[in-house]
Amino acid sequence: MKKGLLTILFLSFIACLSAQDIQLVPPTKTGGKPLMEALNERQSNRNFEKKDLPAQTLSDLLWAAYGFNREDKRTVPSSQNKQEVDVYVMFSNGIYFYDAKANKLVLKEAGDFRQALGQPAISDNASLSLIYVINLDKNSRDAGLMDAGFSVQNVYLYCASAGLGSVARGSFKRPDVHNVLKLTEKQEVVLVQAVGYVK
Ligand SMILES: Cc1cc2nc3c(=O)[nH]c(=O)nc-3n(C[C@H](O)[C@H](O)[C@H](O)COP(=O)(O)O)c2cc1C
Repeated sequence: MKKGLLTILFLSFIACLSAQDIQLVPPTKTGGKPLMEALNERQSNRNFEKKDLPAQTLSDLLWAAYGFNREDKRTVPSSQNKQEVDVYVMFSNGIYFYDAKANKLVLKEAGDFRQALGQPAISDNASLSLIYVINLDKNSRDAGLMDAGFSVQNVYLYCASAGLGSVARGSFKRPDVHNVLKLTEKQEVVLVQAVGYVK
């Protein structure tokens, strides 16, 4: 009942309000499937049902991807602890920066930019797409590529645990995503990852 209400509130929030910053609910840091089961079920899915994630699921997913699990360290390692990856979330109504410290999605650009992600059969039906950006002024490109991979795998495992589907995608329109995010030449979009309910 409580979960259902939260879902309805969140859906209304996304649908009715114009895009604006979203304060996430606190992430649940316990439970889920046993690790070995999640590993066994990890896979790529490309066939999604058009459906938004409940507020709690959204928060948990982002925390798994790149949240803090200690004062200044995260659920993923990073080379020399440079934390050079940024995670953005693309919904149908805009793109948001995941501010893990504030547990908040900060609106970056309002509007539907999903065509920039390519593979519309995936992007247009997924609940959201995560966009992994590396900051080349913080760490080397090699380190950034590896470090982004840890988040991608965390998301795959979270999805396996939560009954969601996911697929990492390297075949998106790089210049378009770069421009939409208004990134600098010291930033690079390295991977996109769709998340949603499997049909
Ligand atoms: C770096 C990377 C890029 C990928 N790019 C795409 C992509 O552009 N489109 C796609 O449908 N799948 C993409 N995938 C998913 C792979 O095709 C998938 O992981 C592979 O077929 C193995 O399947 P599995 O993940 O179910 O084990 C990508 C995976 C990785 C790791």
